[in-house]
Amino acid sequence: MSKPQPVHLSDYQPPAYRVTHTELTFDLDPASTRVEARLTIERHPEAAPNAPLFLNGEQLTLESLLLDDEPLAESAYQHDDKGLTVANVPAAFTLATRVRLAPEENTALEGLYQSSGMFCTQCEAEGFRRITFYPDRPDVMAVFRVTVIGDATREPVLLANGNPVERGELEGGRHFVTWEDPHPKPAYLFALVAGDLACVEDHFTTMNGREVTLQIWVEEENLGKTDHAMASLKRAMRWDEDSYGREYDLDRFMIVAVNDFNMGAMENKGLNIFNSAAVLTHPDTATDAAFQQVEGIVAHEYFHNWSGNRVTCRDWFQLSLKEGFTVFRDQSFSADTNSAPVKRIQDVAFFRTAQFAEDAGPTAHSIRPEHYIEITNFYTLTIYEKGAEVVRMLKNLVGWEAFRRGSDLYFERFDGQAVTIEDFVGCMAEASQQDLTQFMRWYHQAGTPEIDAHGEYDYVNAEYRLTLRQRTPMTPGQTHKQPLHIPVRMGLVGTKSGHDLTLTLDGEKRGKDTVIHLREAEQTFVFTDVAEAPTPSLLRNFSAPVKLHFPYSREDLAFLLTEDSDGFNRWEASQRLAMLALNDLIAAHRNGVEKVMDTRVIDAYRALLTAPVNDKAVLAEMLKLPSEACIAESQPLVDVDAIHAAREFVRQSLGFALRDEFMAVYTANVSSKAYAPTPEQIGQRSLKSVALAYLMAVEDEEAIERCQAQFDAGHNMTDVRQALTLLVHSSRDELAAPALKAFGEKWAHDSLVMDQWFSIQVSRPQEDVLERVKYLMQHPAFSLKNPNKVRALLGAFAQNRVNFHRLDGAGYALLADAVIELNRLNPEIAARLMTPLTRWRRFDDARQALMQAELERIKQEPLSANVYELVEKALA
Ligand code: ARG
Ligand code: ZN
Repeated sequence: MSKPQPVHLSDYQPPAYRVTHTELTFDLDPASTRVEARLTIERHPEAAPNAPLFLNGEQLTLESLLLDDEPLAESAYQHDDKGLTVANVPAAFTLATRVRLAPEENTALEGLYQSSGMFCTQCEAEGFRRITFYPDRPDVMAVFRVTVIGDATREPVLLANGNPVERGELEGGRHFVTWEDPHPKPAYLFALVAGDLACVEDHFTTMNGREVTLQIWVEEENLGKTDHAMASLKRAMRWDEDSYGREYDLDRFMIVAVNDFNMGAMENKGLNIFNSAAVLTHPDTATDAAFQQVEGIVAHEYFHNWSGNRVTCRDWFQLSLKEGFTVFRDQSFSADTNSAPVKRIQDVAFFRTAQFAEDAGPTAHSIRPEHYIEITNFYTLTIYEKGAEVVRMLKNLVGWEAFRRGSDLYFERFDGQAVTIEDFVGCMAEASQQDLTQFMRWYHQAGTPEIDAHGEYDYVNAEYRLTLRQRTPMTPGQTHKQPLHIPVRMGLVGTKSGHDLTLTLDGEKRGKDTVIHLREAEQTFVFTDVAEAPTPSLLRNFSAPVKLHFPYSREDLAFLLTEDSDGFNRWEASQRLAMLALNDLIAAHRNGVEKVMDTRVIDAYRALLTAPVNDKAVLAEMLKLPSEACIAESQPLVDVDAIHAAREFVRQSLGFALRDEFMAVYTANVSSKAYAPTPEQIGQRSLKSVALAYLMAVEDEEAIERCQAQFDAGHNMTDVRQALTLLVHSSRDELAAPALKAFGEKWAHDSLVMDQWFSIQVSRPQEDVLERVKYLMQHPAFSLKNPNKVRALLGAFAQNRVNFHRLDGAGYALLADAVIELNRLNPEIAARLMTPLTRWRRFDDARQALMQAELERIKQEPLSANVYELVEKALA
């Protein structure tokens, strides 16, 4: 096997040939599908007349190749494992190919494959080349006409992009449907679905009065689980009109749910294909979190119709152009639809745990990478979530109105084109008349910037001097970092009055909340007329994706926790306060000293629990301790056991000290109302869950009864799952075993619920988990070929910090074995599953050696490009 080669952004060349029309005919068969393509091709006016034509094509059996309807002599073209090169072609011509492929053997789930007996496709980023020979790059956009031929009984439903224009019966029980998509599109947005599917239909009237048919296609048995996705879709369509002036542009919009899918979903033009986990919900089977996730993903894929499809990426280095912008749009939508502060808190908590870890590891890359080996490895938290943070900063820098004008300009100017990140930022600069040159560094520079802040109050002159120093640690391949333009939203809270003080900076009155712009390596901001000593509230609403250090005392934090006018920073104070206590306890554990609970944390929690409640969901977030993964991110070296012990100690101390308060909160929030995924109900359930978790941490007898009752009542999956988790994670097997058994038997028929059943039991802290994982891998409901199952069992196990990082290395070995097997079956999933092993440098020597050894073992295998690229980076 030849070593996979990197692709460089600096090597980008516009295509020499463009395809204007693409006509495809699929004659579907699991073992041997025939694909005929007829491409209308033109040479680019600026390309050299002798430029060769290159078509990507992989794992295809070529049966016929015609140029302007004449067979091409074998000497006229070259065919290798990457594609076809035709040396001499006219300025305009048609190329017709016929190939064969075997969908049933496609376990990589890229290209055309089968899932639960149905045919479906996944083409982004480079899957289309496994369907037919084609210039498979996003800057080649064509109008598609697609005919799908299938078995009338096995595949009664035949779908592709756009509108159906013809259908008919064929001999031998076959039938066909022809689809036309009038919007030119790159190949990665192509989609086809064929199978025995049922559909739920609804309608949407656009802002200009056009009727759009909305369809969600699912397996018959899932017909009762589409309501929420449909309602979310309609809300998203309306929101995109109201917020961005974007109207839908086809007569129908289809969503299909498939069981085997590598990611969440895919925005194919007019025919979005979804992981069934990202569409199907029912109060009995899906948790509040799942309901919210479905809403967010449905919106995300829909929003791509403009930010992605109408205006797409010039090349895959620009991936964040569509993903960062679209994630920002879906986050804004969810914030508007639900509780905005909770949405922000949850997004930031996740971001700081997972994206910061990526930025601190061997695969750290900028939002616009310079090179890659396998683009599939770059569908990352950096491209998506950090990309969205950067778009959010842009919006805040220029203000919503200029941002909206910039967005209008972008969609108008580049409609139907494949463009770059500069094009997008350029529109924002033009619309706002701001210089965004320094800001562009956010796209080029990898790593998480850190800000060291310190402040001094000068009583005599009534001045507050705030000094901010920024630095970005080195990342692989990027040793020298330049200062970024970092917007820091802030206030000064009067320590006596508890009120936000009016801010005067450089003689200018700024109100009570302002944004200061850090552009230099170090800057001092002098606030004047500061009447009393303040406590600074910095980086409000997480105004930039950075780590901000400020020497807050516990008193400062307890103060901000209740007095900060910014809800996000009240939560932030709760997390910082908990972190100070956790750090002491981690140190105590490491030094073998007796652990003592900081009573100030207990007092702060008591104050929270007994004060009148504004937003239950926010309160729940404030009462949650940072996760073990989040704590790990703040440590110079990760001590898995000390972190676990410290966190458990805090949970139990709070559980004991505030037993009655938690019980009161729990009882006050029990409800028998019919389930609805409303922000109010979700907030109530999440507060109730947090309280119960603290009580179960100390195995309070009354709490155990409540928990058991909550499980038995089976009121909705949110309650049931929380109760089951607490029972299974308790140290009492007489609670865990029967609950697990009952749940497993009740839901054996429901694959998505069984995923939860897998995850819950392999996330428990008890030592039997590794054996459990091995045993469950043999369970009839498990399959390595199904990505959801791999994530639910193996992915969840790798997140179980104490058990995955066992000191005998058995957790690492188990994961490596699975990676080796998946490397053959599904390289994309193999690479993702392997990620925790690549972070080996963060751990102690013993664990480092064990993890490294597993990476070396993986490296001995014949590797896919995906796993190869990751192993190389991890061991570099
Ligand atoms: N564009 C899709 C989305 O963000 C994801 C496609 C992922 N493709 C892949 N091969 N991982 O919704
Ligand atoms: Zn996306």
